[in-house]
Amino acid sequence: MKKIEEITYLYEIAKSLSGTIDLKKSLYSVLEIISKSLGMRRGTITILNPLRDEIQIQVAHGLSRSAMQRGKYKPGEGITGRVIQQGKAFVVPKISEEPLFLNRTASRRQTQEEVSFICVPIKKGQQVVGALSVDLPFDPSFDLNKGRRRLTVIATMLAQWVINLETLQLEREALHEENLRLQQQLASKHRITNIVGNSNKMREVFQMISQVCRSNATVLIRGESGTGKELVANAIHFNSPRAKHAFVKVNCAALPATLIESELFGHEKGAFTGAIKQKRGKFELANKGTIFLDEIGSIGLDVQVNLLRVLQEKEFERVGGIQTIKADVRIIAATSKNLEQAVEDETFRGDLYYRLNVFPIYLPPLRERKTDILLLADHFLENYARENSKDIRRFSTPAIDMLMQYHWPGNVRELENCIERAVLLCEGGVIRSYHLPPTLQTGEQSDTVPARSLEEAVAGLEREMIIDTLKNTRGNMATAAELLQTTVRKFTYKAKKYRVDFRQYR
Ligand SMILES: Nc1ncnc2c1ncn2[C@@H]1O[C@H](COP(=O)(O)OP(=O)(O)OP(=O)(O)O)[C@@H](O)[C@H]1O
Ligand SMILES: [Mg+2]
Repeated sequence: MKKIEEITYLYEIAKSLSGTIDLKKSLYSVLEIISKSLGMRRGTITILNPLRDEIQIQVAHGLSRSAMQRGKYKPGEGITGRVIQQGKAFVVPKISEEPLFLNRTASRRQTQEEVSFICVPIKKGQQVVGALSVDLPFDPSFDLNKGRRRLTVIATMLAQWVINLETLQLEREALHEENLRLQQQLASKHRITNIVGNSNKMREVFQMISQVCRSNATVLIRGESGTGKELVANAIHFNSPRAKHAFVKVNCAALPATLIESELFGHEKGAFTGAIKQKRGKFELANKGTIFLDEIGSIGLDVQVNLLRVLQEKEFERVGGIQTIKADVRIIAATSKNLEQAVEDETFRGDLYYRLNVFPIYLPPLRERKTDILLLADHFLENYARENSKDIRRFSTPAIDMLMQYHWPGNVRELENCIERAVLLCEGGVIRSYHLPPTLQTGEQSDTVPARSLEEAVAGLEREMIIDTLKNTRGNMATAAELLQTTVRKFTYKAKKYRVDFRQYR
C-alpha cells in the first residue's frame, strides 16, 4: 500500500469511528474497511470481561452469529487468549501448521484454503482490554509484519471505543442482574402465603386464588375498603404465567373522567388540547401482563363502552387514533361498591358487569372473621417491630380483648395502622391497651364501659401489669415483685385487691 493510500485508509477508519454514537456499528464499519483494504476473510474484535474472566467476540466480520457466540475463551487459552494475557501481537503464517489454533468458532473447517492469522492486543495504557484479529488468505509475497504493524495502529485507534463498549456491557449486565433480583423480590413479596388468615372465609379465598391464578380469566375482587383487595390482585398476578411481565395498576377513582380514557388507552398527538405528543396507555404498557383496575365502580358510562370492547374483542384504539391495537392483557378489577345496585340505577352497564363478574372473589370484612384478628395483629406486630428495631413480642391480655371486641370498620388496613402506631408508642416488650388508639376504647365498648376515671385507669393498668408479670414468672410472686421493682408484700396486697390468683399462672 502506498503512503497516500495508507493515510486515506486510516482517515476512513477515524471517520467511521467518530461518525456514529452506536459503538458496535462503528466497530463493524472499521472491520469492513480493514476487510476491503487487506482482503481479509474474517475479522473479530474480542473483549475481556474482567468480572467473569472471559474473552468474548463482540464484533465480527465474516462470522455467523452462532459462530460468534461459540467464540469464548479464557485468558491464556488459544492464540487470542494468549495475546490478551501477554499483551503481545501474534502472527501465524499458516494456521494449518499452528498447534495453538483452537478454531473455536469452527469457521475455518469448511475452507481448504490456507490462511494466515494476525492477532494484536487492544490496550489502554498497559492494560489489555481486548484483541483485534484477522484471517488473510495465505500469500507468500505479503509482508505479515507490516500487516501486524498496521493492525497495531488500528488497535490503538479502537481502544477507547472498545473500552466504552466494555463499560456499556458491564452496565447492561449489572442492570440485568438487578432486574432479576427485583423480579424475584417482587414475586416473593406477593406470595399467597403472605396473605394472612386462617378463618374458613379466608381459606375459601385462598382456594379461589389458586384456582384462578394460572388462567387468563378476568377476576373481580370485591370487599369493603381495607379488606386486602389489592393484596389479592398482586398475589394472582405474581402467581400467574404472566408474573414476568408488567403488573399495571390504575386507580379509576383517582382520575378525573376526562383523563381516564387517555390513561387507559393512550392518545395520539393532538387528540385534544394538551396532547402534545403521543402517549401509550396502561393497556399497552400492560401488554403480556396484567392490568389492575381498582375502584372499577367509579368509571363513567362512556369509558365503560370502550372497556367492554377490550374485554370482548381484546382490542382498542388510542384516543384520537385510528390504528386498532391488540391487547394481550389479563384484567383484574376491584370494587367496594355495590355493582348490582349501580346496574339497577343505570350508572353501570349491565353487559360490562357480566363480563367482569366471570370469577368474583369476595373478601369478607374483618368483623366477620374474628379468628383472623390476632393472627393479623401478630403478623403486623412482627413486621413493624422489625422495621423499627424494637423487641416487642406480644400483646397484653386486655389489649387482645380490645382488639377482639372492636368492630373494625376500616378492616385490615385499620388494624395494620393501629398496630404500627402501638409499636411506635410502645417502650417495653409488650403492647398494652393504652398503646391502642382511643377509638378502640370507645367503639362498641362504649356502651358497656363508661369513660374511666383516673383511679380506674390506674387500677386497670396495675392489674394488667400484675397479670403479665405473673404469666412471665409462671406465678412466682417473689420474682414477679422483683421484676416490677416492688416488695412481695405490696405485690400480694395489690394482687388480692384486683382478685388476681397467682396459682392460676403456675
Ligand atoms: N390478609 C391479609 N394479610 C396481610 N395483610 C393484609 C391482609 N389484608 C390486608 N392486608 C394489608 O392491609 C392493607 C390494606 O389492604 P389493601 O390495600 O389490599 O386493601 P383494599 O381492599 O385494596 O382497600 P381499598 O378498597 O381501601 O383500596 C395493606 O397494607 C395490606 O397489605
Ligand atoms: Mg385498594
